[in-house]
Parts: sequence; C-alpha cells; structure tokens
Amino acid sequence: MKIFIDTASITEIKAVLPWGIINGVTTNQKIFLAEKGCNFKDRVTEILSLVDGPISVELTRTEESDEDLIKEAVEYSSWNPKNITVKVPMFGDGRGLRIVSELAKRDVKTNMTALMATNQVILASKVGATFASIFFNRVKDAGGDAERVVRESVALVKKMGAETEIIVGSIRRPEDVTQAAIAGAHIVTIPYKILTQMPYHPKTEETIKEFDQAWLEFKRNEHSR
Ligand code: E4P
Repeated sequence: MKIFIDTASITEIKAVLPWGIINGVTTNQKIFLAEKGCNFKDRVTEILSLVDGPISVELTRTEESDEDLIKEAVEYSSWNPKNITVKVPMFGDGRGLRIVSELAKRDVKTNMTALMATNQVILASKVGATFASIFFNRVKDAGGDAERVVRESVALVKKMGAETEIIVGSIRRPEDVTQAAIAGAHIVTIPYKILTQMPYHPKTEETIKEFDQAWLEFKRNEHSR
C-alpha cells in the first residue's frame, strides 16, 4: 500500500519526506485555503520539485463549463504530465465522467474525487480515471460503511480489469489508516497531523527508556578487555 500526504504545506512535506514513506501528495481547495495567500502555480511547482510521485490538484471553479474545466485540467497537466493528477469531482449529473473520459483521451492523469459509494467508483474506473478517491470519514458522516465501500471498490476494480487505483482520503485518526489498509486500499492519503502520530505508542516510548536504562547499567558494569 502506498502513502500520500494530504497537504500543500512545504514545511509539512519536508518534515516527513526524509522518513521515506511518501509516494505522492493530494491537495484540494480547502487545503490551499489553509496555506494563506501562497501562489497556486508556484506552490504546485515546489511540491513537484520535492516529490517525484503523483501530485493531485483539483479543478477549482466547478461552475465553469465542461470545456473550461477540461482546459484547466490540460493546463495543470502541462506543468508535469507524468506527475500532475487532476482531481475531477463526481458531479451528480455525470459531467465529471464526461470530463474524465475526455482527459483520458488526452493522456491527462485524473483522480475522481469526493466518492462516497461503490457505484461511483465503478463509474470512475469505467471512464479510465487513474485514481478514485473514497472519502472515508465523510462516508461515515453520511451513515455509510466506509470499510465496505473500500473493500467492494478494490475487489470490483480488480474484477473489471481496470487500472484505477483506489485512494482513501478523509482520514481523521491513525486507526482509520489501519482500517483502510485492511479493507485493501491501494493508497491512503494522510494529513500531516495524523501521519506524525503514527510512529508514536506510549508503550514503545516506555520500552525504549527501559532499554536505554539497561544499556547504561550494562556499560557501568562492563569489564574492560
Ligand atoms: C483527499 O484527496 C482529500 O484531499 C481529503 O482527504 C478530503 O478529506 P476531508 O475534507 O474530509 O478532510
């Protein structure tokens, strides 16, 4: 399973990149809003220079026409066709599917986003979305069974022979990562706040201290050669 970081913060990316676990980055409009006044293209370019993996950027003004959204997607993709992945929402009227179909023909990588149900994932994979993003905790907020949606989606995408990879986002607790992984997610995208809690366990800290103590005692009693 791959791990993406759900942020547009350079500080956060730089802090966890040396761990060697980051395979990509996801962003959205709310994530950019939290970056308070950064320049969108400059920030995306900086992220691209740090992470050699899929970087998701979302279509921003969804009230635009399909043609304008396709143009916006093609523009983002031109910044780095290998790594830029354009997030296209699963609009309720199906036009997101049309946009992804068009972008697939133009070799623009896509991430169909805000998915809450297995049927939406089926459609995303049918139109050749590179990624399909299931919003784990938002599924739960709506009373759905998020693990089931992930499990079914992964199984069905495989059965259909589609290459779409399932990203699980909307992660709010470290345990969500475990649940998404057990359900078979290909990728989990994790906010910095959650990612940095994952190496920590109080019993591990206690054990490390106990072993450090033991080593000090051993060194005190160590025989000289
Ligand atoms: C994933 O690609 C999204 O950026 C993100 O995980 C959305 O989750 P949230 O808005 O529920 O936190």
